[in-house]
Amino acid sequence: MRSYFVMNGELVPHEQGRLSVLDRGGSYGDGLFETLRVEEGVPLFVDDHFARLEEGANVLRFSKVPSRSELMKGMKRIIQANQVNQGYLRLTLTRGQGGFGQLLSHLSKPTWWVMAQEHVLDQKRYREGISATFVSIQKNPRSPLSGVKSLNYLESILAREEALEKGREEGLMLTTEGKLCEGASANLFLVRGERLITPSLNQGPLPGTVRKWVLRQAQELGMVVEEREVEPEECYQVDESFFTNSTWGPFPCVRIGEHTFADGQPGIVTRRMMDAWIKAVKQEVRSNF
Ligand SMILES: Cc1ncc(COP(=O)(O)O)c(C=O)c1O
Repeated sequence: MRSYFVMNGELVPHEQGRLSVLDRGGSYGDGLFETLRVEEGVPLFVDDHFARLEEGANVLRFSKVPSRSELMKGMKRIIQANQVNQGYLRLTLTRGQGGFGQLLSHLSKPTWWVMAQEHVLDQKRYREGISATFVSIQKNPRSPLSGVKSLNYLESILAREEALEKGREEGLMLTTEGKLCEGASANLFLVRGERLITPSLNQGPLPGTVRKWVLRQAQELGMVVEEREVEPEECYQVDESFFTNSTWGPFPCVRIGEHTFADGQPGIVTRRMMDAWIKAVKQEVRSNF
């Protein structure tokens, strides 16, 4: 099957997708991206992703951002063209072309493109969980880029690489102050009894869309939610842990470093979250048909 991109609103065959060498996305990482899950051909929780993209564009002082309806049209078009039923969609936005030394406000022609691809989730991850390790990459909570899903994604890439080298699926990054921050590509949650613990946003993790959903869900389940500074040692004192991101939703982590949680099986709260997520996804699909 032929595969396509939508580039600035136009459908282009995959092999003809081109980014100018003058584009600031390539030259400076001057841009943002969002990865969304697609279920039954429907992109999920788009408003949360648009809100984060707009927030990031604000921090990066973009003078122009394509409208939500324009982006939505492109997203629907690519899902249809690539016949994606269950998979992911990536939306990338750069500041566009422009020389060095110009005021950023003069650059008002952003570049954007969308790709989407079938990707069926391997259920083994939910049944067995993953294992994580601490990595040497640190996140600076004081950086203006902390919390922005920018094209400067190399900390995450290096964190993932280090974890894979150690034979683990996910790398856990600390902050420059030595507190827990997040996984290479996911937010981290710890569970102790009826308490749900996660690093607060002022610790510099990405404000994950699924993180936000989990925090709401935990409150509905009557759990005590603690968003705060978290010491790395706390990982060894809790009953269970799980990660969240848009591709997978909540998924269990059964081992961090040399510590295995309980009996090495996904915990009860994690399983409850995964069940609730499946329901939320079904509801989201129904309400968008
Ligand atoms: C570094 C990082 N943290 C957290 C997340 C989770 O964000 P979301 O739940 O919006 O996918 C991601 C997602 O890709 C990520 O890359």
